[in-house]
Amino acid sequence: MAENVRSFHGPLSERVRDQTVACCQGLSGRLLDVGCGNGLLFDALLPGSTLHGIGVDRSFELLSDAVRRLDGRIGCVRGLIHQLPFRDGSFDIVTCLNTLLNLPSLDAVTGALGEMMRVCRPSGRVIVDIRNARNPYIRARYWWHRRTPSFPTVAYRLDEIAAVLQSGGFTVETADPIGMTGAWMAWGYVIVARRTSPNPSRSLPFPLLRKEREGEGRGEDG
Ligand SMILES: C[S@@+](CC[C@H](N)C(=O)[O-])C[C@H]1O[C@@H](n2cnc3c(N)ncnc32)[C@H](O)[C@@H]1O
Repeated sequence: MAENVRSFHGPLSERVRDQTVACCQGLSGRLLDVGCGNGLLFDALLPGSTLHGIGVDRSFELLSDAVRRLDGRIGCVRGLIHQLPFRDGSFDIVTCLNTLLNLPSLDAVTGALGEMMRVCRPSGRVIVDIRNARNPYIRARYWWHRRTPSFPTVAYRLDEIAAVLQSGGFTVETADPIGMTGAWMAWGYVIVARRTSPNPSRSLPFPLLRKEREGEGRGEDG
């Protein structure tokens, strides 16, 4: 675990969490952090906030670390990103940070976003980040990462993620660039989306190949 946790502190990962904390200022209610790892988002988010935090991750070890470090101030649940163990519309805010980059394909991301939209309340927000596939450096670096099975990372374009959210009835409210600004320069984006169509996302097809589900997300930073 030690090596993974060190990678969670990469500069990009830190900026993504900081930007998300800024997006959550003034919000209240129940916040679910999907792929919460050892709970680093909550370190910055909880002080002075009325948000009630719950983290879900597939790693028992990382969840245990989160419970220990945060002294029981959040709820932790073991679960998978494609089968979130919560009822429809259970959360006011659903975040997923530094994690979509570890899923193997846009299909897998589509399935994960479908689950996040399902558990989000009709008036709630989904906040996710992506690494920017339009940035040539990120594209080249992640292409190289994908050649080494132990360190898979995938970058996506903002428009393809916006289209997935749109098909689930959500509209991108803000997309804040991380690092530099400009479509070709941004290292990534923190995307805030809100439901604008009443159609529940579960009625839409979110294809996911079983082999991708089995091989997904090894929990590395990019
Ligand atoms: C790079 S870490 C990011 C952790 C945290 N969000 C942060 O920013 O510090 C990715 C996390 O996603 C979790 N993860 C990856 N695939 C997952 C899946 N299919 N279901 C649940 N958790 C998953 C990993 O266990 C890991 O904790």
